[in-house]
Amino acid sequence: MEIIRTVKELKQATAQAKARGSKIGLVPTMGALHAGHVSLIERARRENDIVVVSVFVNPTQFNNPTDLQTYPRTEEADCAKLEAAGVDIAFIPSVEEIYPEPDTRVFDLGPVAEVMEGAMRPGHFNGVAQIVSKLFEMVSPDRAYFGEKDFQQIAVIRKMVELCGFNLEIIDCPIKREDDGLAMSSRNVRLTPEQRAVAPMIHKTLKESVEFAKNHTVAQTIDMVTDTLNKVEFMEVEYYMIVDPLTMQPIENWSDTRLTPVGCITVYCGDVRLIDNIKYTN
Ligand code: PAF
Repeated sequence: MEIIRTVKELKQATAQAKARGSKIGLVPTMGALHAGHVSLIERARRENDIVVVSVFVNPTQFNNPTDLQTYPRTEEADCAKLEAAGVDIAFIPSVEEIYPEPDTRVFDLGPVAEVMEGAMRPGHFNGVAQIVSKLFEMVSPDRAYFGEKDFQQIAVIRKMVELCGFNLEIIDCPIKREDDGLAMSSRNVRLTPEQRAVAPMIHKTLKESVEFAKNHTVAQTIDMVTDTLNKVEFMEVEYYMIVDPLTMQPIENWSDTRLTPVGCITVYCGDVRLIDNIKYTN
């Protein structure tokens, strides 16, 4: 595995691979890698000749300075995992390398970016669009891989791809869970043992709500999830919304979308912000 820290070397390496006719798969990450990331890398490994993984805690997508400061950074352990997963290039740049000057681009991401995470974290999705578009320009991947835990992020990235005219495939990959159901996240390491013990209630409640939804309204289902989780020690639901999976707009009735509605949740467990989602398949 080659570790590259400069944009110039990254562009050289990927341009050479393209010239040889290699297909490139890109897995953008912010490090603190877990089995969820590894599953994206394994899929990229199967579907491409060259796998590039970026490890970069992107400051422009953090609207909360404390969250940026406390975001786990584990470069050595990350490199060992990348090497073991058969990655060809690990791109680990500094902030100055990516942003030699401030990125002032404002993306017109439209309604998909206005609700949920977009409403709660102003500027977050614009920052995601900034970094992901830069990575796409640098690497020119044939395919890029994203986890469905950040369900809305994938819709936003698809919109950015359309706006910028990138020619690549966005591949969404299923959520990886711990044995007890907790969605894998780099933030899970910040949970205290007591918080970690109750955190699986999120997925458990979402799963139960799929049964509940069969004979209740959307509003009743939202209340059931919110009330159940708010009663759990340490937990406070920031939002729970059931949305159309393409537009990300909340539905009022189950019949409002022909597609499978998705429930998207953000819960504070102590001061750790956890997100998850569930599909309301019949
Ligand atoms: O999902 C993430 O980890 C980040 O938002 C991403 C896509 C790597 C951009 O920094």
